Amino acid sequence: MIKLDLSRAFCKEQMANYENKIQTIHQMIQNKTGLGNDFLGWLDYANGLDSSFLEKIQSLANKVREECEVLVVIGIGGSYLGARAAIDAINGLFKKDRLEIIYLGNTLSPYYVSQVVEYLKDKKIAVNVVSKSGTTIEPAIAFRFLKPLVEKVWKERAHEFIFATTDQQKGALKPLADSKGYTTFIIPDDVGGRYSVITPVGLFPMACAGLDIKAFIEGVKAAMVTYRQPHNIAYQYALTRYLHFKNKQSVEFFINYEPHLNMFNEWLKQLFGESEGKQNQGLLPASLCFTTDLHSMGQFCQEGHDIFFETTLRLRNYQGDITIPEMENDADHLNYLVNKKISYVNDIAIDSTLKAHCLGHRSNIVIELEKLDEYHLGELFYFFMVSCACSAYLLEVNPFNQPGVEVYKKEMKELLKK
Ligand code: PA5
Repeated sequence: MIKLDLSRAFCKEQMANYENKIQTIHQMIQNKTGLGNDFLGWLDYANGLDSSFLEKIQSLANKVREECEVLVVIGIGGSYLGARAAIDAINGLFKKDRLEIIYLGNTLSPYYVSQVVEYLKDKKIAVNVVSKSGTTIEPAIAFRFLKPLVEKVWKERAHEFIFATTDQQKGALKPLADSKGYTTFIIPDDVGGRYSVITPVGLFPMACAGLDIKAFIEGVKAAMVTYRQPHNIAYQYALTRYLHFKNKQSVEFFINYEPHLNMFNEWLKQLFGESEGKQNQGLLPASLCFTTDLHSMGQFCQEGHDIFFETTLRLRNYQGDITIPEMENDADHLNYLVNKKISYVNDIAIDSTLKAHCLGHRSNIVIELEKLDEYHLGELFYFFMVSCACSAYLLEVNPFNQPGVEVYKKEMKELLKK
């Protein structure tokens, strides 16, 4: 269960004034009458997933886990961030089992791309190419590099190890996948990239990485009950963000205390940035990982220009822990911590930072998560997706389009063709 703590958030007194507005937005979301309403498929998506579909994903993933050394997930933006966020969040940042997961098609960096291609040569690889349109240049180029590698290593079995996740009708990948006999997963028409982590876009890579996708979907389903009520904390969080924005605190720092949640912050930045940043509106989503960034950005957070508020994601239970050992002669004067867990020190760091930033008149929203497992992660993704829809509607923008992204894609294609 997610807990929202607004006790250190300024502006909360004004929330009651927006009750009617929130209820109007609630109706717009539930009845699909707001801007971009043909992209609300994610709201009910998990209910339409039958267990045989999840089992099919799982059995294909098991085959990849058994036969391959590396799964390469090719995709950019919403086509990879959710999967990567989930896999890092559950597995941590170090290789956990035989199958390594590598991401490509999310950059045009010549050094990165050439290093990955070199690293993959002669490895037993599987490729999941994820692109709704199938024409996005970064993943399309990446697939050009990897298709021959899969064909070289698997020969006539190559089609068994290429998985295309794409649009049913419009995507340029679908005809190729059909002609070559690749397994295809469909991204529903009414689900946009940044809301697609609960579809095969997220589920297949997660299953390959050993995550329990059934538990993940159970978490999404539980969230569907909670965050579709007329009064819920996803709306409260959205409204608190909006009140800060109105108060000229238009930068939101997403703060975690776990490096393996940094990709989750990247997913959050895309979700809110791409959903709200239009028509000269939108909060600027930024991210920090404490305590690491307290030693680089801590000064700004404590005393810098007051244009931001902080949203801290706090775990009530950690996935791992370790006891602090003794140091001879108490050289660092920290022997009072001997036999204490590092989780104890981290918790004190969180409490102290919240207190210090409060003393500095910094507004802080705290989102508490029971623990970081697949079930709670599913709940967390859905919580933020509902919050984001509500938040964009408060700003009176369409939460589900991204006209600005298309401009760069079009300009680049025109220049490249010259
Ligand atoms: O959220 C979005 O819609 C975008 O980030 C897209 O996912 C991204 O641009 C990739 O597009 P595509 O899946 O068509 O390759």
